[in-house]
Amino acid sequence: MVAFSRRVPQRLESNRLTEAAAARGEIPFDLSVSNPTACGLPYPDGLLAGLADPAGLRYRPDPFGPPGTRAAVAREYERWGARVDPARVVLTASTSEAYSLLFKLLCDPGDTVVTPTPSYPLFDQLSRLDGLATHPLPLDPDDDWRPVLAAAHAAPDTTRAVIVVHPNNPTGSYLHPEDADALASTCRGRGWAVIADEVFLPFPLAGGPGSERSFATREDALTFTLGGLSKSAGLPQLKLAWIVVSGPEALVAAALARLEYIADAYLSVSTPVALAAPQILSASATVRSAISERCRGNLVILRELAAGLPAVTVPSVGGGWSALVRLPAVLDDEEMAVRLLTERGVAVQPGFLFDLPMDGAIVLSLLTPEPIWRKGLAEIFDAVRSWL
Ligand SMILES: Cc1ncc(COP(=O)(O)O)c(C=O)c1O
Repeated sequence: MVAFSRRVPQRLESNRLTEAAAARGEIPFDLSVSNPTACGLPYPDGLLAGLADPAGLRYRPDPFGPPGTRAAVAREYERWGARVDPARVVLTASTSEAYSLLFKLLCDPGDTVVTPTPSYPLFDQLSRLDGLATHPLPLDPDDDWRPVLAAAHAAPDTTRAVIVVHPNNPTGSYLHPEDADALASTCRGRGWAVIADEVFLPFPLAGGPGSERSFATREDALTFTLGGLSKSAGLPQLKLAWIVVSGPEALVAAALARLEYIADAYLSVSTPVALAAPQILSASATVRSAISERCRGNLVILRELAAGLPAVTVPSVGGGWSALVRLPAVLDDEEMAVRLLTERGVAVQPGFLFDLPMDGAIVLSLLTPEPIWRKGLAEIFDAVRSWL
């Protein structure tokens, strides 16, 4: 009998919603689609032409990636008025991989990372796969989703890092500058690092305090700022992301030396993708505009259609690709999502998947093509009326 690692759950069961989706087959109104390449967005011709650059025929292993690409990533931060030194940019194959490298850099098995809740559902899985525990940092729905800082202070002594998502998925909320300062001060005092996931920073909607700031040049605590092509250029299939390291000089140098050791063991970034990235980054503004336009337009439609229903609320969305919709909590959110799928052919994400601390919340993808969005929303609101 082989004993498998407890990093992977012993029972790999699908949830009711996945089973309902498999049983249904085709879904006419998928309002949960988060893959930008499946949403009919216009990508400029020749966007990937650089992948054929003959320079990609030569393998020059470099743990942090080609210098020209790191410089191009550093230039991206000029949009937030931040001057990033390319020597502090580390390329990775995805943000998920960036988390894994950072967990290896900062933590021993059994250590703890503080994770925001509600937030990106993958944190539990990613930390468990690196043998780590999580400690929740609740975001307060009655206070613009600001973090309950006392919860970070109460984190165990095994804590090594605090993750912030700026803006957060799915609440769309930015980390308020006062909270960013307070968290950095706690981290500096306790010897923890800050991991700031800014994959949605290029996509502001209503904005909010902090929306114009990146963590990439914070100097007060050891800080790792994450970004990547999967969101900033709408190209998750290219598998290119990055970490920007900042903080007190000596800590940055020590962290970079160790990150180089870790990255050198994997060398996972593809050379043709890394070489094509500077040109893709400079051409990606049009993709970002198309995505932003889609998200803004869909949010307007959502508010219009929800306006006639007093029991439905659409909280402000600071930034990102998701909208939270609060429906009357006549059913639990999993039941609601299953019924919308089986009875109406509409796919939504139930709030519990993100640990949303309220009943009746669903999460919708603002990337959804407009005709599907309109029809799907009409189905949802019609169903809600029938449940009341
Ligand atoms: C907050 C957050 N970080 C990271 C990612 C994924 O990024 P990548 O494709 O680079 O792993 C997502 C994807 O939805 C996300 O919501």
